Amino acid sequence: MNHLSTFRPLATLALCVTMAASAAEPGAPSVTAESPMILCTVMEKLGRDMQSVTGAISSEDWERVATLAPEIAAHAEPPASEKMRILAWLGADAGKFRGFDGQVHDAAVAMGAAAKRGDGKAVIAAFSETQQGCLACHERFRHAFVKHFGRCPGPGALQRQIEETRS
Ligand code: HEC
Repeated sequence: MNHLSTFRPLATLALCVTMAASAAEPGAPSVTAESPMILCTVMEKLGRDMQSVTGAISSEDWERVATLAPEIAAHAEPPASEKMRILAWLGADAGKFRGFDGQVHDAAVAMGAAAKRGDGKAVIAAFSETQQGCLACHERFRHAFVKHFGRCPGPGALQRQIEETRS
């Protein structure tokens, strides 16, 4: 239950939010300096972890892959309020979105298991499957996501923003 399958119970509620949201801000990007998307920080960490995995694969450091894979499989999630905004925007496509996240989850679990066995070929196959899950979701949703919510502020920017508002 560590990935976006926890989105499911929120789906009905999200429907109501869709209607409210579209009435409040017709087509306007809803991300502002006051409401950074936590999804961006989740994605940045996924990006870093996948890069670390390629490094570990290059040096055949299966132990390191076995440590990194669960970080990818059980990545953090945005808070419920943000999930609801994303689900509301996704509407009928929510299942597809969750499906891609599920592909990443399952492939990363398989990668971890292969790494524990020291099975390099299987690690690489599962890595490819994981990366294809990332790509599939980005190809399907990223453009529309950026159009609706605005672009992610870029590596590190969101974390800095969060720290600034705290201090
Ligand atoms: C279920 C859909 C989905 C999956 C699966 C997914 N992403 Fe993303 N990703 C997004 C969305 C939506 C964005 C935000 C669009 C944007 O602003 O670039 C994003 C953005 C990113 C960014 C840019 C973040 C930034 O701050 O600029 C990176 C890096 C990233 N994803 C890496 C990954 C990696 C690596 C994986 C696989 C391990 C992955 N993503 C899987 C949906 C997904």
